[in-house]
Amino acid sequence: MRNFTSVNDLISPSYGGVGKAIDALVQKALAYKASPFTDKSLGTNKRIGCLFLNPSMRTRLSTQIAAQNLGMEPIIFNVGSEGWMLEFEEEAIMSGTTVEHVKDAAPVFGKYFDILAIRTFPSLKNRDDDYSELYIKQFIKYAGIPVVSLESATLHPLQSLTDIITIQEALNLKSQTSNPKIVLTWAPHVKPLPQCVANSFSQWINAWGKADFVITHPEDYELSEEFTKGATITHNQNEALTDADFVYVKNWSTYNDYGKIYESDPKWMLTKKKLELTNNAKVMHCLPVRRNVELSDEILDGPNSIVTQEASNRIWAAQAVLAEILRSNG
Ligand code: CP
Repeated sequence: MRNFTSVNDLISPSYGGVGKAIDALVQKALAYKASPFTDKSLGTNKRIGCLFLNPSMRTRLSTQIAAQNLGMEPIIFNVGSEGWMLEFEEEAIMSGTTVEHVKDAAPVFGKYFDILAIRTFPSLKNRDDDYSELYIKQFIKYAGIPVVSLESATLHPLQSLTDIITIQEALNLKSQTSNPKIVLTWAPHVKPLPQCVANSFSQWINAWGKADFVITHPEDYELSEEFTKGATITHNQNEALTDADFVYVKNWSTYNDYGKIYESDPKWMLTKKKLELTNNAKVMHCLPVRRNVELSDEILDGPNSIVTQEASNRIWAAQAVLAEILRSNG
């Protein structure tokens, strides 16, 4: 694996199919969870640069810990608040606010680091621009070293790998071998959020191929079919929740009439009453979460919530991915 920006980076004849490649990463991650320092010398004398154009808590800390567990030195650079404002457009006339072109900055990062990890967010103003993934593609083009997405304009692959690790862990605990019913449900929010987590979760669960996968959201909140194809989609939340084993709660803004929120009806918030429809489902959320807007206190503080376990698994997902990149790229 050269880069890690989407589940498509796992497409390789040597992995024997994407589903198998996901399973292999999940098993590796769970092995690291059981024994964090088994590959302590894999990243000796190597550095990972973690560039943040946007805020983060879990991604930033878990990636640092994962790198350190592999013997790497992580260096964090908050480009968005501490660096020169970067230009990403080719042939730009830089007479505005941008100070340095990615064409000039990325090769420098490529000399300083062995792996480059980047977090960017979408503008939510222009769908074509956001979905072109220009920022991460320009880093891949010009850095000359492996690039890891710490969340991009449209995807959050480390989060999605973590989510499957967490689901597999819960299935192992129950000794469940049949495919679980996994429901991704839209939740209200006070401002428009990216579609990244929902896109990415859909992309990974579909690629994994080991679930009865249902997506439920209000009308007009369709996600891109590129990611959801293969899932059952319904506007009836109660119907979706019935007999679910896992409920993944997330807000996203509109995809078609891009970047809007129309529906903030609290009736879409998951409650204890709605959870009774499920098969005692585990409740997941990538965090941060707005309590009593997206998810109720009674759920977050109750026995069905596995959000802390999920966030803690971010370390093992990052460690499995970094180890695979170190092994594949010498
Ligand atoms: N889930 C997630 O990516 O959290 P942070 O934004 O805190 O990194």
